[in-house]
Amino acid sequence: MRKAKNKMKVESRHRRKKSTEPQKLVAKISPKSPHSELFRSIRTNIEFSSVDKIMKSILITSSEPDSGKSLICANLAVVFAQQGKKTLLIDGDLRKPTVKKIFPEAMSHGLTGILTSKITINEAICGTDVENLYVLPAGIVPPNPSELLGSEKMKQVYAELYEVFDQIIFDTPPIQLVVDAQLLCSLVDGAILLVRSDHSSRENSKKALQKLQSGSAHVIGSIFNNQKMKMEGYYYAE
Ligand SMILES: Nc1ncnc2c1ncn2[C@@H]1O[C@H](COP(=O)(O)OP(=O)(O)O)[C@@H](O)[C@H]1O
Ligand SMILES: [Mg+2]
Repeated sequence: MRKAKNKMKVESRHRRKKSTEPQKLVAKISPKSPHSELFRSIRTNIEFSSVDKIMKSILITSSEPDSGKSLICANLAVVFAQQGKKTLLIDGDLRKPTVKKIFPEAMSHGLTGILTSKITINEAICGTDVENLYVLPAGIVPPNPSELLGSEKMKQVYAELYEVFDQIIFDTPPIQLVVDAQLLCSLVDGAILLVRSDHSSRENSKKALQKLQSGSAHVIGSIFNNQKMKMEGYYYAE
């Protein structure tokens, strides 16, 4: 009897654990909420951020971990897809991959699988239950993420994806800690620095911006993730 009870406890814990990450997709679950409206306004700002250049591919980074990069990338990807654009969310954080948790349907050997020539691009890209939205999970955590992301193969893969998709969003690791985001920002059309109000110091944000610029990024702006504006268990950003 006790065994059965314990088993039930373990199972319900697992069930809870499984379901929390996809719930962060507020833009998918509650498209009419004020939070989703904010993601749409960020989308508009991205689209109009440059007169000379189309922002077909963007990267989001921050100075430290846990700033909300993955959460915001995923929701932005949803609102771009909802606009009818064929959108790809790439998990460029090969050290702490998150995309596969938010999109449990994304089961493939992902970006590292392509970069190590284990699978093709088509095999790696996963459809989602959001129309027009595709995700490329990170894949197996490699021992040499920077080497892979800075490789010639990465440039080739990116060029192919750029042809196929209308919008690409790169989730990345924190720029202060590792060089990965700097490597990727030389590829993309625009980069965004995420600042979390209760988390990122002014000094660190300045340093992160300098790093982005030294990585030849076209910095199109910043997103301020304000935890105090959290509502109804969802998350707010502006
Ligand atoms: N505005 C916010 N309010 C509360 N929690 C947040 C907020 N933004 C992000 N989080 C939470 O903080 C944690 C880290 O977010 P995540 O997107 O994984 O950060 P990063 O990708 O920058 O490391 C997640 O559990 C996320 O849901
Ligand atoms: Mg992340």
